[in-house]
Amino acid sequence: MNKVSASAPAKVNLIFEVGQLEQTGYHNVNSLFLALDLREEVTVSSGLPGTGISIFVKGDGLPARHISAVPTDESNLVAKVVILLSRKLGIEIPDLQIDIFKRIPVAGGMAGGSADAAAMLIAFSAYAHQYLNTRELTLEELLDAGSELGSDISFCVLGQLAIGTGRGNQLSAITPFSFETHWLLAISQQGLSTPSVYNKFDDLGNFSSFRDLASVSQGIHTIEDLVPLLHNDLEPAALSLMPQLRTLISSIEELGALRAIVSGSGPTIAALCSSKEQAKSIAETLNGQEIFALVASSPALGANLEG
Ligand code: C5P
Repeated sequence: MNKVSASAPAKVNLIFEVGQLEQTGYHNVNSLFLALDLREEVTVSSGLPGTGISIFVKGDGLPARHISAVPTDESNLVAKVVILLSRKLGIEIPDLQIDIFKRIPVAGGMAGGSADAAAMLIAFSAYAHQYLNTRELTLEELLDAGSELGSDISFCVLGQLAIGTGRGNQLSAITPFSFETHWLLAISQQGLSTPSVYNKFDDLGNFSSFRDLASVSQGIHTIEDLVPLLHNDLEPAALSLMPQLRTLISSIEELGALRAIVSGSGPTIAALCSSKEQAKSIAETLNGQEIFALVASSPALGANLEG
């Protein structure tokens, strides 16, 4: 059977500075992105003639609501990737079965949907080249296509460590840290929609002035250098929409994490830990308390083919 699989990583924003709302409907941001080894996997295979795009979603260890929340129609980013790339390649939209294997929480501020799209960019371009005899798309074309569809997709294609400007999609890769990082990720039952957090941010009106993140990142040599730099301008907005996150952050820090912050637009709390064992032990404690907790580490590569 004609089949291609690819995977792509989750992200955390180590530093997330947000400016004013632009006329494009997006905010200018200045972000230091780090990829984590929590990976989404998509498999593209040929569908029965005339069936169009069929999407199936399964999960690995995620609560059932994270699987049922994923749309299986053309609003899913993976379908948008197929439609956009087919147009760019000048082919008709093929009949395809797409299987998504989710590990990243949905609506958690960790780029779960964007990672699906990033994996799909790699998988579908390889599928089309191999089985539909199209030309090969360049990495630059795939990054551009990702940018058209969402702000975090290009970073999930690139992975590792990068600075994102514009609406988060203009990336410059920087040398990965020479040390590993280990994270505890605490996911609340309730999700937060990205637009509502940005709207709240506008209401609060605390616009940031942007730092030169290239020089800031040059000063990060050890985990101790990183801890005081962790910062998210969207955190006050996320905390105002979900005040209970404040208690969660304090409990995680009391349990020993080096620092806990809201990840992206939340509500996931990303906590930097001194070791994987510490992250696992905090996860075990939290998992008994109506919080779903995961552990993930860096470095992590960008989207790549599997199998
Ligand atoms: O691009 P993405 O789908 O991730 O963005 C979702 C929504 O989040 C946008 O429609 C916009 O309301 C908000 N957003 C923003 N500024 C950004 C990124 C996202 O206002 N830089």
